Amino acid sequence: MDVLCTNRNTSEPIRMRSTAAEQISDIFSETNLYPNPSTMSPTATQRLLHPSITETVQTKPFPIRGERVNYVNKPHVIAMVGLPARGKTYIAKKLSRYLNWVGIFTKVYNLGEYRRSATSAYKNHDFFRPENQAAMAIRTECAVRALEDACQWLSEKGEVAVFDATNSTMDRRSMIHSIVVNKWGYKLFFVESICDDPSIIEQNIMEVKVSSPDYTNMDIEQALSDFLLRIEHYQEKYQPLDEQKEKQLSYMKIYNTGEKVVVHKHEGHIQSRIVYYLMNIHITPRTIYLTRHGESVHNLRGLIGGDADLSTRGQSYAKALAKYIDQQKMDGLRVWTSRMKRAIQTVADVPAPQERWKALNEIDAGICEEMTYENIQRKYPEEFTSRDQNKFFYRYPRGESYEDLVARLEPVIMELERQGNVLVVSHQAVLRCLLAYFLDKPAEELPYLEVPLHMIIKLNPVAYGCKVEHIKLPIDAVDTHRPKPEVPGQVVSAKESTSNGA
Ligand code: SIN
Repeated sequence: MDVLCTNRNTSEPIRMRSTAAEQISDIFSETNLYPNPSTMSPTATQRLLHPSITETVQTKPFPIRGERVNYVNKPHVIAMVGLPARGKTYIAKKLSRYLNWVGIFTKVYNLGEYRRSATSAYKNHDFFRPENQAAMAIRTECAVRALEDACQWLSEKGEVAVFDATNSTMDRRSMIHSIVVNKWGYKLFFVESICDDPSIIEQNIMEVKVSSPDYTNMDIEQALSDFLLRIEHYQEKYQPLDEQKEKQLSYMKIYNTGEKVVVHKHEGHIQSRIVYYLMNIHITPRTIYLTRHGESVHNLRGLIGGDADLSTRGQSYAKALAKYIDQQKMDGLRVWTSRMKRAIQTVADVPAPQERWKALNEIDAGICEEMTYENIQRKYPEEFTSRDQNKFFYRYPRGESYEDLVARLEPVIMELERQGNVLVVSHQAVLRCLLAYFLDKPAEELPYLEVPLHMIIKLNPVAYGCKVEHIKLPIDAVDTHRPKPEVPGQVVSAKESTSNGA
């Protein structure tokens, strides 16, 4: 649901965003409609009515807030389809990053890497001539090996394997179907990237193909002409996914990086989620700025959470941030903040349309809100230690975990993918989650990513990842980073006594 208000400083409309999950959670908290103990098991009732602080890791008193549940009942293989330089690897890597971030264990199997480790026979484009029988035998053998490895991994711990290869003929796709579906009993979804815009193809070749390990000993001109001939060889035999002859398959086709999308027989939650994600991404260059609010008066006292005002230094940061952003002259910049006072005050002078997202609010520290770490350690020593033992999954009693936060931020990521230039002003734990998505950081590292106060993190999506730059504005602030202690539950340094890192 979107609600329109007005920014009193700029008279710009401010969009108040809330996701469906937030609305449900609001209804619960406003009406006290918590789960009804009379319909619950005795153990669950006991836990709900008398939450024990020692049980927090197992007990999930607010299931409505989104748990990292395993959505993938049956393992999936996502098989890419398309001519070379159509962005298949870009899609495969990006999809894998997204799925891992939402908690679905995903891995990419790239056929080019299998081929390079199996043979050094690639001298030039001749290797990919359809008449080159010897090379074709190697290519087929590598494809089978990559698929078998992918399925083996799925049988052990994986949930989604992305098979990154051209898979450009019906025969090849039929072979994939018989291995993945008939032999292993897994689900198979093809993603075809079709592109006839020469500028996109050329950009792709220049950004990633000419620097491929196939061309380490060639100059750029030679590599470019060899790669164009390689594409021609594929073109001779290319069969796009056929709605009639391959109508039993599940697939989506993406035309010119999203200009048009066709979805055929997609099945189940995970495929819908993949379709939705791939429909939202784009490759237009843009900048995303992430920053925390300016230093708050709670920061000065080492208190976590709450809804405090900016300190005097925080107000100076707000001014400096507005100046910095103004100097960047970003086309169509949008400003997103949480609904906390300290975030809204930080963008008071930023001259751009603003939106408030409840989803960008800081992690809810539950019973520990507005306490210092020392006080938490003193009052709830077991909680304090549990959090250090597994910070990503630890949920504050009557509050949230980092895992919950990732679930609440998914709509933000989806919308960020759709946007151009955006400045996001939020909080330490929230920005750690967003950064982990853009920089492909695993769940174990996520809660320890450094996001200092008064620092702007500038992100520019590039070919297979994100360029990151840290811009420190020259206004002092307390250091709120609490590194992982060697012994769980330790409050070590004086520096930490002023910390309020969530
Ligand atoms: C490669 O060998 O580089 C990839 C082959 C393919 O996907 O067709």
